[in-house]
Amino acid sequence: MRVDVALNPSEIEHLSERELSGTACVVLDVLRATSSMVTGLAHGVLGFRPVASIEEALALKHAHPDAVLGGERHGERIDGFDVGNSPLEYLELAGRRVITTTTNGTVALDACRGAREVIAGALLDLDAVAEHLRRTTAAEVLVVCAGTFRETALEDVLAAGLLVETLAPEQATDPAEVARAVYRASGGDLLGALRRARNGRALIAKGRGAEVAWCAQRSLWPVVGVLRDGWVVAERVG
Ligand code: MLT
Repeated sequence: MRVDVALNPSEIEHLSERELSGTACVVLDVLRATSSMVTGLAHGVLGFRPVASIEEALALKHAHPDAVLGGERHGERIDGFDVGNSPLEYLELAGRRVITTTTNGTVALDACRGAREVIAGALLDLDAVAEHLRRTTAAEVLVVCAGTFRETALEDVLAAGLLVETLAPEQATDPAEVARAVYRASGGDLLGALRRARNGRALIAKGRGAEVAWCAQRSLWPVVGVLRDGWVVAERVG
């Protein structure tokens, strides 16, 4: 297996230029988009439809009137939407579908649509993602760090590094080795690192430290979010 990592969000806009038909893409947006999706899927949400814009979300709502509208801008729930982007808002939506748009995470998922397989991963299901990847027939794995606005996000690189460390691939590119080094430098203190991250500090400053602590938990569920026909749905591992 060959593992590469897109460390910076600026790489996401060029993903459509990459030949991804043999690649399994894992999108990581630990704070908070993919953590919210994994939490929702582990609690019975039927699927998440990630879109890049608010307009797309509202248009999809017409086609899926029973769906829940979720997402954020500047970390806050979007006016007129049902829920924001806190993982704690996705614990009681069993049996529902969610149309979601966020600043970075859903844009990154959307940008990977040319890939052989697209996975929404988080620390919350990291070992299940690794197990799923060990079984994939894709020749290459590309871990996409969603980032915070246009910046590299420490929490995403940390999770990417833990995934590389867990997979221990035959081939790891330099960006993958950079991510692994970031994880090793953390000494495994995931919460400490998330609290130092820009988005972690911003959330804590807003009194949302509980969300940061939630997203820092490792491998609570054997569930992987896999993109199927535009929806991120649950696949159980093990
Ligand atoms: C994003 O997609 O940009 C993040 O998940 C935003 C957030 O939840 O704060």
